[in-house]
Amino acid sequence: MAGDPGRPANDGGSPGESQQQRPGAHTRVLGLVPLACGMRPARSPAAGRLLKVMRHGRRADLVIEAVPERMELKRAVFAELDLACRSDTILATNTSSLSVTALAAATARPARVAGLHFFNPAPAMKLVEVISTVLAAAGTGEALARLARGLGKTPVQVRDRAGFVVNMLLLPYLNHAVRLLESGHAKREDIDKAATGGLGLPMGPLALLDLIGLDTSLSILEALHAEFGGSRYAPAPLLRSLAEAGLTGRKSGRGFYEYQEKSVPAAPAEGLISNAASPRTPGTVMVIENGAVTLAADLASAITAAGIRVVRHQVAEADLVIVAAEPTRRVLDAALACGRPAHVVGVHPVGQEAAGPRFAELIVTHLTAASAAAAAIALAAKLGVDVVTSRDRPGFLTAAVAYPQLNDAVRMIQDGYATPADIDTAMTLGCGYPRGPLQMLDDIGPAPVFDVLSAMHASSGDPAFAPAPLLAEYAAAGTLFRG
Ligand SMILES: NC(=O)c1ccc[n+]([C@@H]2O[C@H](COP(=O)([O-])OP(=O)(O)OC[C@H]3O[C@@H](n4cnc5c(N)ncnc54)[C@H](O)[C@@H]3O)[C@@H](O)[C@H]2O)c1
Repeated sequence: MAGDPGRPANDGGSPGESQQQRPGAHTRVLGLVPLACGMRPARSPAAGRLLKVMRHGRRADLVIEAVPERMELKRAVFAELDLACRSDTILATNTSSLSVTALAAATARPARVAGLHFFNPAPAMKLVEVISTVLAAAGTGEALARLARGLGKTPVQVRDRAGFVVNMLLLPYLNHAVRLLESGHAKREDIDKAATGGLGLPMGPLALLDLIGLDTSLSILEALHAEFGGSRYAPAPLLRSLAEAGLTGRKSGRGFYEYQEKSVPAAPAEGLISNAASPRTPGTVMVIENGAVTLAADLASAITAAGIRVVRHQVAEADLVIVAAEPTRRVLDAALACGRPAHVVGVHPVGQEAAGPRFAELIVTHLTAASAAAAAIALAAKLGVDVVTSRDRPGFLTAAVAYPQLNDAVRMIQDGYATPADIDTAMTLGCGYPRGPLQMLDDIGPAPVFDVLSAMHASSGDPAFAPAPLLAEYAAAGTLFRG
């Protein structure tokens, strides 16, 4: 009688192999290679492990395959497993981006083939994506989900589709960050700081690409692009160039950052505007409302409290002109209207802290003088506000980095692929997000996210930024995704 793969063995065996003492009482799991990374026995060559599986395959209720991400290799391994294992053994693949359906169809047991996608490092990360195909028996995914729960993980069950939940949301977001860098929207440290300081994410997208590996990221994007098409998935040229040049990130010592012995990013390279500039704080600042009345008043009182003179109309007296900036309104228009565009910098605080925002975006137009940008940085330092510098484009930097991913998450719900709760679970447990994208969207509000995406769509013409119809409905009705 076959054991239930949903009941994990607890015989204290090696991570890659567990054997039951009473047949049928526990799951007999043979890891063809160890589950994802971090559980790999160093001295055991792949061929030896494969041989072992083939010898002991008939005793296993479940085999988890984790050979390199190449379809022809996985097909060959599955063909051998199909012969070596009992017909009721479940064959699971840890693939990140290949078609589980294609693997299932290549076996004589398509009903008992599924995806079991662990996250790196597998012992620590709580999420497991369980992927069922149209060929799978009803109980296959459920048995794997029970196994995952037995291992102390949280399973999210989805249908077979490239990228599943996490990579489908994560990789386009990372790719977009590369596009922001290569288009000169912001410098690399500021793109990463917008994600950590502005959104509270554990790591910025470019640093995360270096950690995942640019080559791995490129191949997942190619798989997504092959299935879905469109600019969200077409690898950014800079990402492809770096990967092809062997600058794959931490593992090669250089990607978007350079890594010294202790894997610490090297000193910043030349950027859009150097935060290192240390000019004198401006003596007189003019604040322009540009429709953001409350924000302008808050900025004026914070600057006044720092002992700096604030004027509202005498532009000729100002050393620096600040526009209270909203991410759907161009700073350039206010800069032109005031008559001294070279002196103008937009300021957009991010985050709602009781003591006042400690993080802000400085928006420079193409007419802003470097001295004005540097003066704004000095002013922010005096006020104790951490800043990033962004071009004057819809969404500025933080929203431009984040909101397209929120839109992708809404599309995933609209497609009927995953629920808001499953998406948030997947991104918090799989990527270490402090809150999931739908919770983030609810906290910001569907309407402001819709407005920024509409502005990004209008200015870029890229359909990838067009708000999902479901987001438009929720924005119009004021409905929340997590309630
Ligand atoms: N690296 C990650 O962060 C990560 C996360 C989740 C899933 N995955 C998936 O796990 C799988 C493996 O990825 P990886 O990064 O651990 O790859 P890897 O190249 O680091 O490790 C692959 C392992 O397979 C062994 N191997 C190679 N050829 C073999 C063969 N013919 N037969 C048996 N064993 C063989 C190698 O010795 C090695 O131990 C891929 O499908 C990948 O998409 C990786």
